[in-house]
Amino acid sequence: MKNLIDIMQMSTEELQELVDRAMDIIANPAKYADACRGKKLATLFFEPSTRTRLSFEAAMYELGGNVIGFSEANSSSAAKGESVADTVRTVGCYADIIAMRHPKEGAPLVATRTAGVPVVNAGDGGHNHPTQTLADLLTIYREKGTFENLTVGLCGDLKFGRTVHSLISAMSRYKGVKFVLISPEELKVPRYIITDILEKNGIPFEEVTSLEDAMPQLDILYMTRVQRERFFNEADYMRLKDTYILTPEKLRNAKDDLAILHPLPRVNEISVAVDDDPRACYFKQVLNGKYMRMALILKLLEVNV
Ligand code: NCD
Repeated sequence: MKNLIDIMQMSTEELQELVDRAMDIIANPAKYADACRGKKLATLFFEPSTRTRLSFEAAMYELGGNVIGFSEANSSSAAKGESVADTVRTVGCYADIIAMRHPKEGAPLVATRTAGVPVVNAGDGGHNHPTQTLADLLTIYREKGTFENLTVGLCGDLKFGRTVHSLISAMSRYKGVKFVLISPEELKVPRYIITDILEKNGIPFEEVTSLEDAMPQLDILYMTRVQRERFFNEADYMRLKDTYILTPEKLRNAKDDLAILHPLPRVNEISVAVDDDPRACYFKQVLNGKYMRMALILKLLEVNV
């Protein structure tokens, strides 16, 4: 594997290898402290980010490497009209690996053609976000000890939420997984996810609108933000933004060992009163993201530890 653009590029074995590596990093951090000495990661972020960019950077520092990059398109030559292809061809002369976020779907794939170094998709428009899925998978693994026989509820903006698309793709390969897709009519998962992933592979799923009704059967609840920046008009966003707000009351019918995930940032969809519930895993998920990005950097740079 030279790049990570879509989570489906990785086999089940490769995903498990990354999970195992992350678990070893957690257990033996000192072993990895110099693993990327002399290597540089470039973070090219053409869209806002807190966790993804900073966790990539923290990951590289914890591996003993260095980081260069920019955090907004306006501070790069994109503002002068430079193409993505030329920008990454240039950055490939300076860095050993590139993590790139871009509002246009497919931009990181275009980048792989000229970069000359590994490219990681750190989110492309409303399409995919494979490294968030790595964070999600490690969280599920640490909470549940398995990826199999789980009922996974995804709630909120399933249309524009790129993390949702990547997580469904990844989880669809495990035995006994069932999806409950909870959204308003307007924000249902794109048709291609239903036909090309779920129906094609005979994976059980239901599309529902009520979070409360779905709650009792869930092992995982993946809440998401309504993606304001992908809406065509503000009125639709205002109408839909507070459709689902998870509160302690709504968790009354939930399983005792439910794991509540959210890729963050949270806007309004999880009440802060839920944060103290032992089932809330979204800040653990943040930390898991850093370990999985460390494991991914090691893999793409072919560093043996
Ligand atoms: C997500 C994203 O950028 O898609 N954030 C993240 O990377 N953790 C989710 C979101 O913005 O809602």
